[in-house]
Amino acid sequence: MDVTTAFFAELEMLGPHDKATSLKVLKAIGPLPAAPRVLDLGCGTGQQSLMLARALGARVTSVDLSEVFLERARARFAEGGLQDLVETRAADMRNPGEPADSVDLIWSEGAAYNIGFRQALDAWRPILRPGGVAVIADAGWLTEDAPEPVRTFWDAEYPDMLDATDFPEMAAAAGYEVVATETVPASAWVAYYDGVLKRAAELRAGNPSYEMETLIRDLEQEAEIFHQSAGSYTYLFTALRRPAD
Ligand SMILES: C[S@@+](CC[C@H](N)C(=O)[O-])C[C@H]1O[C@@H](n2cnc3c(N)ncnc32)[C@H](O)[C@@H]1O
Repeated sequence: MDVTTAFFAELEMLGPHDKATSLKVLKAIGPLPAAPRVLDLGCGTGQQSLMLARALGARVTSVDLSEVFLERARARFAEGGLQDLVETRAADMRNPGEPADSVDLIWSEGAAYNIGFRQALDAWRPILRPGGVAVIADAGWLTEDAPEPVRTFWDAEYPDMLDATDFPEMAAAAGYEVVATETVPASAWVAYYDGVLKRAAELRAGNPSYEMETLIRDLEQEAEIFHQSAGSYTYLFTALRRPAD
């Protein structure tokens, strides 16, 4: 198992997400058809799949590249008594294996950055049914005046990070209607880094490999950058509808 998977598989949160914000966005997209087809793309260990299955009372297909994360997700669904409602699929989010015009809701939190927001828009539009919705949460800049070390760090780590205003503009240019936008609160980042730093301390106490120590230092630096960030970036939700034909 690679060090990143080993580090994160045991964590409660794989990213800075906030259930109340997710539920607010889910409410904002309005009712879905009966027995909707729902995908959670880049589902990780299944936090949002669980939220969706519970909130919608609908079947969810949880897609991720990592078999290790999917195994943790299945354990989480079983603990929640939802194993019959959520199925997992090891696949690339670029081609999650759904027919054209078939999906009512695509949900993807903290994962689209792996392929790029623009690429996600293009890859997911054809599988949405006309009138179907994609909800994407990706990191974005809230200001042009981020502290210099913060801008330098993210320009190196995530050079394609968009400005908040880019998300709805790019989505409209890709042929979507923007239904809602929302920002993830700073408390989600604080909770995420609390978990990360706790896991880092546990692993460090066990004499980690050079590769694991390098990852730990990178994550500690990222947490420190967040504390210097002065609210200059966060995760931004964009909820988008494929227009009815
Ligand atoms: C930061 S985690 C977020 C997981 C989850 N959505 C959450 O917020 O807890 C990003 C996830 O994307 C997955 N991933 C990365 N590239 C992918 C791809 N091309 N297709 C599917 N999943 C991918 C990773 O394995 C990881 O589980």
